This record gives sequence, structure tokens and C-alpha cells, in this order.
Amino acid sequence: MKWILLFMVALGLGLAAASTSSSYSFYRLPTAVRPQKYHLKILTHLDNPEELRFAGTVRILVEALQNTKNITLHSKNLTIDESQITLRQISGEEKKDNCVSSTEVNQDHDFYVLNTCQELLAGNVYELSLPFAAELNKQLEGYYRSSYKDTDTNKTRWLSITQFEPASARAAFPCFDEPGYKAPFVVTLGFHKQYTGLSNMPAKETKPHESLADYIWVEFDESVPMSTYLVAYSVNDFANKPSTLPNSPLFRTWARPNAIDQCNYAAEFGPKVLQYYEQFFGIKFPLPKIDQIAIPDFNAGAMENWGLVTYREIALLFSPEHTSLADKQRLANVVAHELAHQWFGNLVTMKWWTDLWLNEGFATYIASLGVENINPEWRSLEQDSLSNLLTIFRKDALESSHPISRPIEVVSDIAESFDQISYQNGSSVLRMMHMFLGEESFRAGLQSYLQMYSYKNAEQDNLWESLTQAAHKFRALPKSYDIKSIMDSWTLQTGYPVINVTRDYGGKSAKLSQERYLLNTQISREHRGGCWWVPLSYTTQGEQDFNNTAPKAWMECGKTGESLSKTIQDLPGADQWVIFNTQLSTLYKVNYDSHNWKLLIETLTEGDFERIHVINRAQLIDDALYLAWTGEQDYEIAMRLIEYLQREREYLPWKSAFENLKRVSRILRQTPEFEFFKRYIKKLVTPIYLHLNGLNDTFSGIQQQDQILLKTMVANWACQYQVADCVPLALQYYRNWRSEADPDEKNPVPLNLRNTVYCTSIKYGTDADWEFLWTRYKKSNVAAEKRTILTSLGCSREVWVLQRYLEMAYDPNQAIRKQDSMWAFQAIAFNEVGFLLAKKYFMDNVNFLYKFYYPITKDMGRLLTPFSEQVFTQSDFNEFRNFVLLSRDSLKGLEQAIQQTLETMLTNVQWKERNYHQMSRSIQKLL
Ligand code: BES
Ligand code: ZN
Repeated sequence: MKWILLFMVALGLGLAAASTSSSYSFYRLPTAVRPQKYHLKILTHLDNPEELRFAGTVRILVEALQNTKNITLHSKNLTIDESQITLRQISGEEKKDNCVSSTEVNQDHDFYVLNTCQELLAGNVYELSLPFAAELNKQLEGYYRSSYKDTDTNKTRWLSITQFEPASARAAFPCFDEPGYKAPFVVTLGFHKQYTGLSNMPAKETKPHESLADYIWVEFDESVPMSTYLVAYSVNDFANKPSTLPNSPLFRTWARPNAIDQCNYAAEFGPKVLQYYEQFFGIKFPLPKIDQIAIPDFNAGAMENWGLVTYREIALLFSPEHTSLADKQRLANVVAHELAHQWFGNLVTMKWWTDLWLNEGFATYIASLGVENINPEWRSLEQDSLSNLLTIFRKDALESSHPISRPIEVVSDIAESFDQISYQNGSSVLRMMHMFLGEESFRAGLQSYLQMYSYKNAEQDNLWESLTQAAHKFRALPKSYDIKSIMDSWTLQTGYPVINVTRDYGGKSAKLSQERYLLNTQISREHRGGCWWVPLSYTTQGEQDFNNTAPKAWMECGKTGESLSKTIQDLPGADQWVIFNTQLSTLYKVNYDSHNWKLLIETLTEGDFERIHVINRAQLIDDALYLAWTGEQDYEIAMRLIEYLQREREYLPWKSAFENLKRVSRILRQTPEFEFFKRYIKKLVTPIYLHLNGLNDTFSGIQQQDQILLKTMVANWACQYQVADCVPLALQYYRNWRSEADPDEKNPVPLNLRNTVYCTSIKYGTDADWEFLWTRYKKSNVAAEKRTILTSLGCSREVWVLQRYLEMAYDPNQAIRKQDSMWAFQAIAFNEVGFLLAKKYFMDNVNFLYKFYYPITKDMGRLLTPFSEQVFTQSDFNEFRNFVLLSRDSLKGLEQAIQQTLETMLTNVQWKERNYHQMSRSIQKLL
């Protein structure tokens, strides 16, 4: 029903798109003309900090597809001198003079409408030339300014950089700013000769500026056809580190000169993963060079501009002395993600932002494969896969979630789409296909999709088509099945199912049924509905074959989309368990009957639990705790199950458990029964803490890399819950650091324990301890170290310290960059003492915060997460809801985040009412 409705809306909008009158009010560009090529010439002024600005001309070859009397394109916050606009016909039979008679601005949609003197005729090509100028803004979007302190001279150095995705190319030059309008770009940059100019393509020619002394023009090669959001350029005085991998295109890594020694790792990793993709996709990287550059002021994590990839410093710069293993892996993942986009996104682009997941889901999944290929010892594919699933199990269990393929109704919907559903859920459904199709068909399907849509745009149906063909060719899917029927149920529909498995132990069979899994338990079963095509893999206690992820059966949907139950035969009897969803290949939860749970608990707590795949151990923990949370299982069962963690020595099950226990703890720690919970956590964590040698610096002896991550995570919980000697040891490390003669040069705290050590020391420490760390922050030259410190400074229990820190985070005269304020805020708001302060600060200053973040309002949404996880009473919920209603104007563009926040709070309220006592009782039994 929903789908039909959407379809009709799309149709209605489609009709509007064809008309091009000046009363045109649709947010998409009219389709009467199409750009064929851009010549973009821009002069950038960086010499006077009071006047950082640019001015340029864009010459666009425009083909008329229909007769029309106007050209509508995008322009935002640009000054355009109308008298300088020219228009001439350059192809077609008789070339008539043409011109622009008048212009109109449509502020709502950033349209700039040029009414032409003569009608443009279908089939002809015209050249439109527009001059434009603007300030280099401070908003981290469009063509903007960034800066850094030169350590030698102590002077501020300025640079310029672009960030166009999703809809800010229009703020840098007038253009047809929709992903479907691909065209080649010829960029020419003018700047003072002390700087370097970079763009997507290599520089071709340098000439002196015709009038400005010491200024030059650099013209770059013509690019391949690409979408506007991928255009990039920068003027800076950075240093670069060329890569040395043979047979790679020219590959350089750029940073401010005093950080150039942090470029080695990315310079080595980048070309390796690029080469892996060339071979995986069977398509060479098409540009002659690629640059990656670390920008001091940068809002996102990174941006995949074709041939000129931009990063936050933390996502590109690596220091062996300061970057933890977790940060290093994240860095590799970001580089792999952006380079995956060079194919998925740049070469083949989504037709419209509705299918953003074709960019982001792919980049996310392919990056995991890329990193796994280069550093298999990290086991990061497993980690990424589980971490994505854990995220989506939560997000997509909210009614306010949305489908992976997301209808866009207004421009602000586009920015909101860069969320966990597009990234993590997009990635999870690709992994699912990879696992049910197998390597050969999946790869072949992707290759033919990439080949077919190179330099073009695609929508998800195009992908389904390529994969279906490959699947049938390699017999990976029955002929009667096609990928579209299966996958539409995953990408057009919100949510995921819980599969109820009811075994018939005598009949050796099991009956399976499905319904949508929702956290909000007030929604009745009838209203849940939904049907997903589920590939069913499973194994039994006798078989224990977790390597086979191919489906043994399918759960199907009926003609009208109704769910059908499924019976599985040939299962063992009552002495053996079954586990569905080997390696968690598919996004669904499983609820077994109580006997099956009992068998599982026996194996986990007393049996050979390590024969159950490590991802499935994580799955059992997550499922049991979720089902208990929503009342579909007893807490008794869930808590008995996780008791086995005292035997668990692997990272993933612990990660799964901690993610769930964190939720519970954020509520319980505000209640009288926290006492029992604390004792329970101590009991669970002590064995693994001791097994890993506590806080002792044993890292160099650890062979299995993910044990390092485990140790980092366990240390963090151990100190929070004062397990064994955790706190005293942490304080001792910190004292040792403080007594160093040059603490900025020498730090005795083990790299992978710094978060825990700093946080613990700030929590139990003095004002002087706080000041010491803040001084290190200001002096640090390494982004990863700065981030660690920033989050640790929020661990104080002093109200005044936290209040001062909050205000510092949003004070532009302080040392914290705009992009990083959120880390400080979140650290304070997740701290049980800081929570109320942060909430009050947010409510009192919502207007200020909105302006602070504007126009990137999505970031403000991230400030809400700590509230959603710590509000659990009806009256606090009401208070927040009323606040939101009253502050609507200061929360524009955050609608989705607010819905999700409110719904999460509501499910907390339900949990408290239903489970609080039950859980506490089952914990007390286990103490
Ligand atoms: N295409 C995005 C950058 C982006 C994000 C542009 C949001 C506009 C709005 C880029 O490829 C990306 O996904 N970056 C991630 C990091 C990545 C490793 C998950 C980011 O910025 O968080
Ligand atoms: Zn991306």
C-alpha cells in the first residue's frame, strides 16, 4: 500500500518537472536543457584574512532538449553581475544571436532562472557564461576557508577547499547541481604563486595572471564526465608525500607542512587498496593521478571527490606514537571507503538521492572487503559486519526509521539521508547478497553493473538486473527467483523481521513465522505487518557447520506481500539445539522456543561453546537481550545466557554484550538498584580482565590483533566499574605522565589504554589534572591524540568543570574547532553528572546551537543521542517533547533525529515500567 502511494507521488512530481514556466515551484530542475561541458575559472584571494574571497566565471555548454525560453540552474549565496552574462548559440542550423533578457531568483530551491531573448531550440547547443563572486565562507561547505598555525612562525596560514556533496556546488559556482547531470569539467585556478592549486585532474599549464602581480593561472586537464558534487579544488601551501607502489597512478598524500610526517601510513595504504579494487572490479582507475589531502577544518569524515579526496586530519594522518590500533583501523577504513567510491559513486552514480545507498552502502561494504584483503590479521570484516548489524538492529527497530531506498521530498531530506540506514543497512544487505549468492555471482554481477553504467547514473533496479543475470548464469539462484523480488523487500520496506522458530521435537521439524521487530511494544502485532524474503541458513548441534552461509530454504512472501509460514524438516530431536542465520548473514532476529534456548545456554555455559561461530555467539547475546527488552523472552533466560561470558575470550561476543549492557546501565545508574547491576558487571568482567593482564602493558606480546581491541574495551569497563586494580593502576600511569619533564614528548601511558587512563584520572583527579590534560590538548599536533583528550576531559565529576567545558566547546575563541565541539558535548552528556548539565545547556541555548551548526544541521542531531539514551521517565519524556514542540524553528532539518530520539525515550519508559524489577531480580539471583 505504502509503495503504491509513493509511486503515485513520484508520478505527480514527474509531471510537474516537465513544465518550465516561471511559476515553476518543484524542487527538481526542469529538464528542458542539459549541461555538456563546464569551463570553470576561479581566482582565490588568501592574502588578507579580513577579505578571504573568490571570483570567477563559468562557461557552460548547454544542449536544449526541448524548446524553451529559459534556463534554470542552481546558485546559492553567489553575487552574479547580470550585465556580464552572455549566451550564444554554437551549434544548429542558422546561428542566431541570443542573450539573457532578465533573471529571477527562487530562494526556496536555490534556482537562478535566466529568461532568454530568443527561444532555445531542441537539438541546438548554446554557450552560457556567468560571472560570480562570494566570500570564502566559514561554514565548512561550498568553497570555504580553513587555517592552521605555522609552528615556526606562530602565524596563521589560510587555505581554501571545497565540500560540495550533497548540494553545495551551487554555493561555489552556478551549475546544474543534481547528480544526474554529468559533464566534463575544465578547471582553471588563479592564486598567489606562493601557493599550490589542486583539483580533480593534474595541472596542465601555468601562466602569469594578466594584471595581478605574482598571481598565476593554473589550468587543469579536462576531467571525465562527472556529477557536480564531485568537483573539488583547493589553494594551499601544504606539503605532500608521493607513494611508491609500482604500477600505481601518481598518488600523493597532502597535509600542512608540520604534519607531513604523519602521511606515511595513508600514502602506503591508499595505493594498495586502489590496486585491489582495480583487480576486484576489473576496471582501472580512470584518472592519471589521485591526491588525498587532510583539511584542518572539515565537517564530514572524508569526501570522495574524484582524484582529490579530502579528509579530516584524524581520518588521514597517522602517528605511531599517538594513534591507537582502533584509530588506525578506522583510518584505513575511511581511506578504503573513499577509494571504493571512485567506482561506486564516481564512475557509476545514483540517479537521484533516493538511492544514496548505492553510493554509501557500497562504499561501506567494499571498504570492509578492501581492508580485510590488505590486513587480514585485523579480522576487520567480521568486526565491521557485526558492528553494522548491531547498529541497524537498533535503528531499524524504530517505527520512525525509513527504507534503505528513501524517497526525497524536499532538499533537506537529502542531507538527512546520510545516515546509518544508507551506510550500515546498505552495507548489510550487500553482505547478505554476497553470502547467499556466493563469490562468483556477486563479483560478476557487480562487474557487469559497473561496466554497463560507467560515466552514467543508475538506480537500484539496474543493480538487481545485473545481479539476477549473474546469479542465474552461475546457478546461484533458482530460475524462478529474481533478485528484485527478494531485495525490494529489504530496500523499499522499513525494518527487519524477527523469526519465531517453534520446534516440533517429536516430528523433528520446526515451524517458522515472521513479523516486523519493533522496540515500541505498544504497537500491536496486527500493525507490525511486513514480509521479507529471508534466505534461511542454519546448523545443528550435531553438525556445527557455520561456514556454510548458503540458504537451505527461503522464507517467501505471498502475491499480495503477506508473510507465509515455513516448515523445516529433518531437524534433530530434543537433545540438540539449532541455530539459524549462520554468521548472521541476514538482518533478522531469531526467537526460539524455551527448550532450544535451554540447550543453547547449556552449551554456552558448560559445553564446547567455542564451536559456535564467534559471530553467532554475538548474535545469541544480542537476540536474547533484545527479546528480553521487548518482553518476548524472560530476562531470566537472557541473563543466564550471558553468564557464559565469564568463559568468553573473544572480542565480538563481548562487543555485542557491552553494547546492550551499556543501554541498560545508562538507565539503571540513575536508579537505586544500580548496586546489583554494578556487582553483576564486576562478576562478569573480572575473569576477562585478569585473563588479559588488566592494565599491564602486555600489548607487544599480543599476537591476535583483535585481542588488543578487546583489552582496550575491557579496560574501559573495568575502570568504570572499579574492577580489581583498574582504577589505581590508571591513576598511577597518569601520575607518571605528569611527572615527565616533557610530557608532550614523552608519554608512558600505553597507547591503547589512553582513553581509559585519561578518563579515569579526570574522573577521580584534581583541577590540576584537568588543566594538565587541557594543556596537552592545546599543544598536540596529532588529531587522534586530540580526540582522545577531548572526550576524556568530559569525564570530570565537578559540575563547574563540566559547565566551563561545555561553554569552551562552543566558544570560537577557544582551541576547539567547530567540527570537534560535538565530541566534547557528547562526552559531557554521556557522563552521569554531565547529563543534566548538557540537557539544560541544550535547551537553554538551542537557538545559539542551531546558528552554530547552520547550515549543517544534521550535526546538531548528534547532540541528541545522549538524551535519548538516558531519559526513561514519563515526565522527562513529556518535558522533552514539549521543548521540541516549542523550539521547532531552531530544530529545522533535524526532524528525523528528533523522531528517533522521542521514540527511543518512549521505549526506555516502557522498559523501565515493564522490566526494571524483573531484571533486577534475575540479576540478584546470579550474584
Ligand atoms: N560521501 C561521504 C561524505 C559526505 C557525508 C558528504 C555526508 C556529504 C554528507 C563520504 O564518502 C563518507 O561517507 N564519509 C564518511 C566516512 C566514511 C568512512 C563512513 C563520513 O564523513 O562520516
Ligand atoms: Zn561515503
